Amino acid sequence: MARPSWNDEMRSAAVATLDSKQWVKGRQVQQFGKEFAEHCGALNAAPCQNGSSALWAALKIAGIGPGDEVLVPSYTFISTATCIVLVGAKPVFVDVEDDYYCLDLNSVKQALTSHTKAVIGVHLFGQPYDPRIVDFCKENHLLLIEDAAQAHGAQQQMSDGEVRVAGAMGDVGCFSFFPSKNMAVGGEGGMLTTTRGEYSSRIQSITNHGRTPNLESIELGSNLRMSEVAAAIGRKQLNHLEKWVNIRRKIAEQYTLALHNHPLIAAPQVRQNGLHAWHQYCVQTDYPEALQAHFDKLGIDSRRYYTVPIHQQQIFANHPQHTKLLPNTEHLGKTLVAIPVMHELTEEEIHRIISALKTFQVGSDL
Ligand SMILES: Cc1ncc(COP(=O)(O)O)c(C=O)c1O
Repeated sequence: MARPSWNDEMRSAAVATLDSKQWVKGRQVQQFGKEFAEHCGALNAAPCQNGSSALWAALKIAGIGPGDEVLVPSYTFISTATCIVLVGAKPVFVDVEDDYYCLDLNSVKQALTSHTKAVIGVHLFGQPYDPRIVDFCKENHLLLIEDAAQAHGAQQQMSDGEVRVAGAMGDVGCFSFFPSKNMAVGGEGGMLTTTRGEYSSRIQSITNHGRTPNLESIELGSNLRMSEVAAAIGRKQLNHLEKWVNIRRKIAEQYTLALHNHPLIAAPQVRQNGLHAWHQYCVQTDYPEALQAHFDKLGIDSRRYYTVPIHQQQIFANHPQHTKLLPNTEHLGKTLVAIPVMHELTEEEIHRIISALKTFQVGSDL
């Protein structure tokens, strides 16, 4: 399902950084932040340890804490929700769209209370969330945290017509560079971005114990810093991101074409006026186990995501919504199957996957 790129250019950058013996707090991290902010069209960006710590830091700098409610999807990776608990606030789980799998605007509207302080929107599988979520948060003075951990290189036209890149579609953006993502850093890594002036220096200081440049800690932070080697690798990977995401788009187009009129498998849909980053290509079927067995037999990977919605997991056993039914969340967990779409797939592999999709029949592998 994942095959991170690694070449001589990245190897040389990593070795040169080690040879320099400036292993932390150096120019690579500074430059990576600058270049990533330019890529997103964000005001500033701060490299950090991983996507989960970026989410924690985003809530922390916005002062979200006890007594506050944060609206969050349940159909996502666990840390999108646990970061809320880690700052002492309450996650309020909302349903996702049945067609694009991101936060459902109506569910968000219904969940709004006087305690709601923030919304965490996820560009799930690389599909940007509904731009009307941005308008809703502005109108209701809510902080919008953009979980872009799966969306490097995604784009979406906003309601005002402006096209924005993932990382600049909210107040604070959070990325992960886990090796399976659209770009990586040779280990764990993350990035905080912001479009807001008041958070511009704070996304940096929170990754460094809440310190000012003269080393006085003025707010609670921690050591969330990225290493110089990771940043050096990330800078090289960033140069390839657009090309890699375009390759993912071309592969996705081929799969979607192959699935046209398929009796058992539906292709994913793409939101209008957006560019999907295709971190995952998830097909929908009433026979997910049979499809996986069919792929297994042909030696092709596949994966099912979020089969147990977050609010139903043990960690939320005492949450008031633990037994609540979120219909789309539940349905997607039961019907989606991710198939390989990484940019390193060979033509031969792509054709094998297409052929596997076309030859799938119920009963053939049961
Ligand atoms: C949607 C989403 N949010 C947050 C994260 C957390 O990122 P990390 O694993 O770098 O902590 C991930 C990672 O898989 C993710 O997919």
